[in-house]
Amino acid sequence: MKKYYTTNLKDGETFDDFFMIKSLYIKAGTTGKQYLDMILSDATGEVVAKKWDLDEAEIATYEKTVPGCIVKVRAQVTDWRGQRQLRVTKMRFAQAGDGVDNNDFFKAAPEDPQEMYDFIVGKIQGFTDPDLRNLCMALYEENKDKLMYYPAAMSNHHAEYAGLLYHVKRMMMLGERACEVYTNLSRDLLLAGVAIHDIEKLTEILSDEHGVSPGYSFEGQMLGHLVQGVKVVHDKCRELGIGYEKEILLEHMVISHHYEPDFGSPKKPLFPEAEVLHYLDMIDAKMFDMEDSLAGVEPGGFGDKVWTLDNRKLYKKTF
Ligand SMILES: [Fe+2]
Ligand SMILES: [Fe+2]
Repeated sequence: MKKYYTTNLKDGETFDDFFMIKSLYIKAGTTGKQYLDMILSDATGEVVAKKWDLDEAEIATYEKTVPGCIVKVRAQVTDWRGQRQLRVTKMRFAQAGDGVDNNDFFKAAPEDPQEMYDFIVGKIQGFTDPDLRNLCMALYEENKDKLMYYPAAMSNHHAEYAGLLYHVKRMMMLGERACEVYTNLSRDLLLAGVAIHDIEKLTEILSDEHGVSPGYSFEGQMLGHLVQGVKVVHDKCRELGIGYEKEILLEHMVISHHYEPDFGSPKKPLFPEAEVLHYLDMIDAKMFDMEDSLAGVEPGGFGDKVWTLDNRKLYKKTF
């Protein structure tokens, strides 16, 4: 039975337990010796881990190790510049007799993928604009298999089983509320933007069926989900005979949703639905990271530094 989870590791303690290797790199240390730089994860989260001073046999083994495998580690919890880090002293691969339970290792969105898919598709089917309805329906039906398990990221926000559906679903809920307040917004256009804004994460990042991503695809590295998304929307609009203006607006929503050139958007939003789309995306990503960071924190305490939140350490209130 797994006892130590990434969210309840206490500073200074030494323990033995199983984790999944989310990423691993062999790097050269300042002493000239090589070390293993890893992210270990389980169903509750992830933690950086280092195994120092590798010998030749370890280097040969870890060079061939792929992310996704489960290992038993002996490690000490240390603090490195405000962030918990594991100093691993022993590590071996899990064996059949260990009786590890896969559910302990894979982080999953808290809702059922089929229910989230049905919720999103239900909203799409309710669009009064037939072009937006047809476009979104086509993209969701064609990609249903992958949507059921895909994460929305490699790490950080919604890097979990069915995380992309969870992200889109909560943005849709939020988007509907925004339309009640800002009545100038086209609900169909905003929700269509929500539905498609990250759809090409399905080809940008790689993922196994547990929603664990080993990295980016070739296309993902070279183009990214914004440019890939524009291509898909362009092709789909042509296929479905959707008019010029609508196509351009949808493409614009995809390429502007990261807002800043530094984050991959060549254009800032140029109409209200595109502007709101960006903020829905931001709110949902930040709320996810905040919930995640506070999950294992005791009331009245502070969490680890979160780099996606400008290295803030969040406080967990006591009431
Ligand atoms: Fe995005
Ligand atoms: Fe997003």
